Amino acid sequence: MIDPVESLKEFVRFPSVSTDSTREAGMKDARDYVGNLLKQVGFSVEEIPTPLHPIIIGRRDGDPSWPHVVIYGHYDVQPPDPLELWTNPPFEPGERNGRIYGRGAADNKGPLITHLAAVAQLLQEYPDPPLRLTFLIEGEEEIGSPSFVPFLKKHKDLFDADFVLLSDTGSPNESQIVVTTGLRGIVCLEIEATGPKSDLHSGVHGGAVLNPIQALAEICASLHDKDGRVNVPGFYDDVRPVQDWEREEIGKLGVSEAEYAGFLGIEQFYTEKGYTPFECVRFRPTLEFNGIGGGYQGEGSKTVIPSRAFAKISCRLVAEQNPARVQKALTDLLRERCPSGVSLTITPGHSGAPYLVVPPGKPNTPKNQPEALAAAFRAADEAIAEEFGKPPLYLREGGSVPIIADLKRITGLDSLMIGLFLPEDNLHAPDESFHLGVMKKGIAASKRILWQVASKGVTSARS
Ligand code: BES
Ligand code: ZN
Repeated sequence: MIDPVESLKEFVRFPSVSTDSTREAGMKDARDYVGNLLKQVGFSVEEIPTPLHPIIIGRRDGDPSWPHVVIYGHYDVQPPDPLELWTNPPFEPGERNGRIYGRGAADNKGPLITHLAAVAQLLQEYPDPPLRLTFLIEGEEEIGSPSFVPFLKKHKDLFDADFVLLSDTGSPNESQIVVTTGLRGIVCLEIEATGPKSDLHSGVHGGAVLNPIQALAEICASLHDKDGRVNVPGFYDDVRPVQDWEREEIGKLGVSEAEYAGFLGIEQFYTEKGYTPFECVRFRPTLEFNGIGGGYQGEGSKTVIPSRAFAKISCRLVAEQNPARVQKALTDLLRERCPSGVSLTITPGHSGAPYLVVPPGKPNTPKNQPEALAAAFRAADEAIAEEFGKPPLYLREGGSVPIIADLKRITGLDSLMIGLFLPEDNLHAPDESFHLGVMKKGIAASKRILWQVASKGVTSARS
């Protein structure tokens, strides 16, 4: 039997930072650790190489008539910087206030251990349930999963399943769980404006050249209009409108705008006109500047006209938007808006499609929704109500897990996503943590869901 809290602490100790090539050992140790846990629980484990970080597959096979659930998680984490802002070192887990602190505790090691512990308990309490399970644990989620689509195309046979179960999304508080019905997609790119062949003395040459920082800032400033909308023609063309039932769910979140502003430490929201902040983060696409630079960054002043300036941009996309189309619209527009006097280099980064699943019983649920998926949603509703004290809300999420749309597109599988992050978990930030109360109830809920699904296997095996 695995001890979930101790296992999480152990797992957090391995510095599995996928973007950092000096962390190869941490990646390998994290893989070995989770692979061994799976073996302990009775799974056959395979490490599938990719050009970058291997994928771990853990299988519990069985009669083909049994239900088959794929459980997804990722063993990679974000870089821990800035280190000086952590209370305990990011890879030396601390336990305080009913939480485990450390990089990756919430995103995604804690939620992954939650489902693994649920499976371990299920298999111990009900030996040999009629249920096939496949753990899919990747190591490139935090860098856009570059190896995932080729992997999936090659190993499609592993995913002849009923649905995917995962927890890599959030909920508003420990008693109100969200079942996530959508994820935003993403399009990243970097732009560089280049002017004179080298940095120039701004007294000697200032007045004669277009400063690349000015050019870049003007381009960037043109990308939103006064109503907070993204000022790129065609950007909103395919956006799925917010559904009435989704607005109702938002109303039940139990958080006021003032509380949200207080949580963020801001005086005023900046939103797209016509939408509340809660709607904007879940249902509307955005264009953000993630980094901008150029010229002198050191102490004091330096009178220079830099030869270059850059900005890192990402767009979050919502259901029905197409990443390639958005990337083209944005790239074309950036070129058009680039003033003569500088040249613009545009380098595309990673991209991923948005994802949407309409749960059973909501308006416009697809008529051909597989019964196994609908049954899994119903089981989740019941299990969450039992274990957390309230039925879940059904909401789309602002963050992205692009492989979920890839799985749908390539294998047809939909995902049942149970939000286990809380707003205080500090994902991607210093003092990241995972709430142990959520973990405990999450284990119980996951176990119930899987048992419900297995019971269908009992029925189908008998019938
Ligand atoms: N688990 C997060 C996504 C997330 C965060 C969902 C918060 C819900 C709430 C995931 O690990 C993540 O950070 N994804 C990246 C994807 C990107 C690197 C392609 C993201 O959303 O920025
Ligand atoms: Zn994650």
